[in-house]
Amino acid sequence: MQSISELMASAKSEIKKIKTLPELEGYEIEYLGRNGRINVVLEDIKNIPTEKRKEFGKSVNLAKTTIQELIKNKQKDLVSQEDKGQFIDITLPGRKYPKGSLHPVTTTIEEISKIFEKIGFIRMSYPEVEWEYYSFESLNMPIGHPARDDFETFFLDFAEDKKYGKMLLTPHTSSGQVREMLRVAKSEARGKQSPIRMINIAKCYRPNWDVTHTPMFHQFEGLCVDKNINITHLKGTIDYFAKKFFGEAREIRLRPHHFQFTEPSFEIDVSCGVCFGKGEINGKKCKVCKSGWLELAGSGLVHPNVLKSGGIDPEKYSGWAFGFGVERAMMMKEDLQLNDMRVLYNGDIRFLEQF
Ligand code: PHE
Repeated sequence: MQSISELMASAKSEIKKIKTLPELEGYEIEYLGRNGRINVVLEDIKNIPTEKRKEFGKSVNLAKTTIQELIKNKQKDLVSQEDKGQFIDITLPGRKYPKGSLHPVTTTIEEISKIFEKIGFIRMSYPEVEWEYYSFESLNMPIGHPARDDFETFFLDFAEDKKYGKMLLTPHTSSGQVREMLRVAKSEARGKQSPIRMINIAKCYRPNWDVTHTPMFHQFEGLCVDKNINITHLKGTIDYFAKKFFGEAREIRLRPHHFQFTEPSFEIDVSCGVCFGKGEINGKKCKVCKSGWLELAGSGLVHPNVLKSGGIDPEKYSGWAFGFGVERAMMMKEDLQLNDMRVLYNGDIRFLEQF
């Protein structure tokens, strides 16, 4: 059994030699822990004659506090040494935190809204789950009309109405045309004369799934109704949009076409951003457009029957409408050579991180 003085002496010299904090912690346990050396010595008290026990107890306590003190001081030394030795390399690059960004289609939709807001168009939203009536009948496509086949449609069978027909997922944003006319007609009945300048950007659904189609996609629909509206207003508006969205050097042209809900109807082409409408580069056919023009949208003057569905008198008012595909316009703008449009919606982070 070690005597108290021996114990203190060995503690002192051993603590001096200690070089690291974990080592010191080990020592603390060895001396002051529950089964540590101090307590072992203290157990010896029962072999001490009663009159000497008090003194013995005192000396053990002294040893304990002395060792505690030594350990504390050593700890301070070691910590300050460690601090001095620490080197912070301020030239190391910082940690990068992963940052989210808006989906490219969302950014494009915002850009389109802003372009039209500038010339007084109001962004409207109409139901995505819609009555058959607003997608077809109200647009001059009666039940059984073959033109309906151009708009392959997802029907929903949970509701059917005598006038409005079945419910469906809107196959085009044109379903918002008559809803907008009715909304404005109501306000006109309240004495407000308000022409229509609407931009409706929304999700559309058609059952197609291949490299150029996704069953959910977006369209933006422009609708303008007022007194004395004619084709020049349509052309001017689309020209303005094309220059703002695709670039000042781009041009548009209207090509005769057919839609049930417009008369006359046109397809809108925009000049190719690669060959600038020439159709060839250095005597070779342009690979992007082949003809100098890219097909962009459908448009036309609103058919009188559609105005009537919307409660507007076609003798007094006229209007135009157009419908573009958002994804298509986006791909043509960025010259994004997507060989599969489905990557926009399959959630692959490697694609999305590029935006
Ligand atoms: N709704 C038509 C389509 O999806 C486009 C269009 C809109 C045509 C407005 C004329 C007027 O193909």
